[in-house]
Amino acid sequence: MNIKGQSGLYFHWPFCLSKCPYCDFNVHVQDGVDHERWEAAYLRSLENYAQMLEGRTISSVFFGGGTPSLMRPETVKAILDKVHALWPCVNDLEVTLEANPTSVEAAKFAAFKDAGVNRVSIGVQALNDKGLQFLGRKHSAEEALRAIDIAGENFERFSFDLIYARPDQALEDWKKELQSAAELAKGHLSLYQLTIERNTPFHYDEAQGLFSLPSEDLAADFYDITQDVLGAAGLSAYEISNHAAPGHESRHNLIYWHYGDYIGIGPGAHGRLTLDGKKFATREHTAPQRWLEMVEEGGRGAHPFQPLSHDDQFNEALMMGLRLHEGVRLEHLSAQGGQDWQNYMDPERLQIIQDQGWLCLNDERMILSREGMLRLNALIPYILKAQSPAGKAA
Ligand SMILES: C[S@@+](CC[C@H](N)C(=O)[O-])C[C@H]1O[C@@H](n2cnc3c(N)ncnc32)[C@H](O)[C@@H]1O
Ligand code: SF4
Repeated sequence: MNIKGQSGLYFHWPFCLSKCPYCDFNVHVQDGVDHERWEAAYLRSLENYAQMLEGRTISSVFFGGGTPSLMRPETVKAILDKVHALWPCVNDLEVTLEANPTSVEAAKFAAFKDAGVNRVSIGVQALNDKGLQFLGRKHSAEEALRAIDIAGENFERFSFDLIYARPDQALEDWKKELQSAAELAKGHLSLYQLTIERNTPFHYDEAQGLFSLPSEDLAADFYDITQDVLGAAGLSAYEISNHAAPGHESRHNLIYWHYGDYIGIGPGAHGRLTLDGKKFATREHTAPQRWLEMVEEGGRGAHPFQPLSHDDQFNEALMMGLRLHEGVRLEHLSAQGGQDWQNYMDPERLQIIQDQGWLCLNDERMILSREGMLRLNALIPYILKAQSPAGKAA
């Protein structure tokens, strides 16, 4: 198939040194990872996608996980060399690698840079040892600061993640942590409210009353402080959990939020691909061993691609687009839905949430206010009309 257009490229490295008690990503703790075998599988999988996606241009690469900073820099280099051999890439290709801030991993930043990585996203999570211990992290605050320093020495663009609204955290403490984060940041920060995911150790701890999350009102205060402190520091939110100075936004993640195409390679990776004018959801086998064997046997670790109906595309584009502070383009929604965007919406409810000040509509875009962002998950089902199984809005 001869496909035009740009794609992001996501690689999932599924291994971690230990499993954090809040995390429900597809991660595995395994001794003795066979790095050569994994490298060969990523390369083979890339070749397989390239046969299907001739004529694409790669616009960004992202190594996520899991803990891709545990990869060998040689593996990252081999993968990037293969990407360049298979497709043209945009001139300013963004190549991000998620890194944990242990001293061993930070010491590899220079080698990742030599391999072709030009941006790291560091999982700092908290800037004090008490917070890090609660989150079950293996690094200290001092190691996190050192990792941020090393990132600054090696990369023009980097980001780090913090998790807030922790049970042990006072609003005033978070404000101070945020001020330090703003000083340490070089253009980009990801700030996530702690979420309790089902079947994680934190889920059981919370159910047993070992801790409780802040109330909805307090969580809203945490969110407000975050917006105020970082806005004043020149790092406004451009997405519900992501803040950047102008020009420092994550180009790769913007592909997800703009609902563009991306290839997802590695255990459990997802992708969205337009093939012959139709959009497909792709999903790779989750179990690392199964994925590896499938690629070794047949060149691909993906389940059969799932065609997306117009309803699916509309819902996904709306859900992703409303996360952005610029909002979502109405024309884009109509294109994804295959008909006027208004046919998908309940007009009365849309009016109600505009009157509440939670959503703003102009000729071009639908945009959530700060109050609306806090209610994102509840608002979307509220404003959508019931949809028929045939994939057309009623
Ligand atoms: C896929 S994780 C991987 C990053 C890297 N392995 C690490 O832990 O440093 C990406 C980010 O998601 C966030 N995250 C994961 N689970 C979360 C949860 N339950 N609540 C809030 N944030 C979470 C963390 O900030 C984490 O850095
Ligand atoms: S938060 Fe990061 S290090 Fe911890 S288990 Fe999840 S992916 Fe691994």
